[in-house]
Amino acid sequence: MIVARTIAKTRSALAGLPRPLGFVPTMGAFHEGHLTLMRAARERCATVVASIFVNPTQFGPEEGYAQYPRDEAGDRALAKKEGVDLVFCPKADEMYRDGAATTVIVTGPLTEAYEAAERRGHFDGVATVVTKLFAIVQPDVVFFGRKDAQQLAVVRRLVLDLDLPAEVVGLDTVREPDGLALSSRNACLSEAQRAKAADLYRALVAGRAVTGDGRRVIVNEVTSKLVLGFPPYLQEVPFDAPSGPQFSVDYVDVVDPETFERVDEPTPGSLIIAAARLGETRLIDNLPIGEASEVDDQEAATEAARTSGKKG
Ligand code: PAJ
Repeated sequence: MIVARTIAKTRSALAGLPRPLGFVPTMGAFHEGHLTLMRAARERCATVVASIFVNPTQFGPEEGYAQYPRDEAGDRALAKKEGVDLVFCPKADEMYRDGAATTVIVTGPLTEAYEAAERRGHFDGVATVVTKLFAIVQPDVVFFGRKDAQQLAVVRRLVLDLDLPAEVVGLDTVREPDGLALSSRNACLSEAQRAKAADLYRALVAGRAVTGDGRRVIVNEVTSKLVLGFPPYLQEVPFDAPSGPQFSVDYVDVVDPETFERVDEPTPGSLIIAAARLGETRLIDNLPIGEASEVDDQEAATEAARTSGKKG
């Protein structure tokens, strides 16, 4: 596996490698979610490139750029095991030279609400770094996780608008046995918060179960499950105040997966999205509304995973 720290070395090393070239952009601290993207790239492409770059321009001033987990040596070993051909690990001054004055901004509803509203400027940083990485690596196929659904939509939009010659592949969210989406932020959760965190996924599943009743009912269902939790008994009145870690809900909604505009009458493919905090840790997740049979299958699979997770 080639380790390239400069743009020049990446370009010269890639010039000799066979096509199609698959690319997985990351910020490192690999978990199964990242590795799944690399595996998909390995399956599809003759050459696989991953980047490890904690991009300063997509972090707000209070968003912990300095504290973001970094383990380049561990990540390199994992990438090598997945058969990655080249990892691009630039320093910040290689990506952002003195005097850099260009920002790629995707405009419109896609970058106004939800993650965009909670994290001002975040998608400008993402769009800019992704455009630069695509210009450096020149991939034929790029692999992104559906976990960051709004980011995926932003990338699809900018690839279309800038006529970038890459196919964008979105891959399903990889989850813990109890349903919690894998994320480098999960390491910040205390034991009690970690146990509570899976309720985010359970709340989305509960929301999906009332899909036929329209957006409002879904949003109410997800929000109430987040706020009230899942008591181990049928909810009786008066309802005991929940104890232990509590979610503070940033947003819950049902949106079009491409435009992130609100959808009042959800159809298969509409996304239920949610973001909530447990203490200092902000978690996001989403679940697509599926065809009825597909939903039953997914629920059965999740239930099976949850039961086996409990046993293990
Ligand atoms: P990062 O958070 O490292 O994520 C890299 C890729 O892994 C993204 O496409 C993300 O959606 C995907 N991913 C994360 N958790 C996942 C999970 N549980 N299941 C499946 N895929 C998952 O996203 C970024 O980095 C950056 O914003 C980046 C695009 C690299 C630009 O800096």
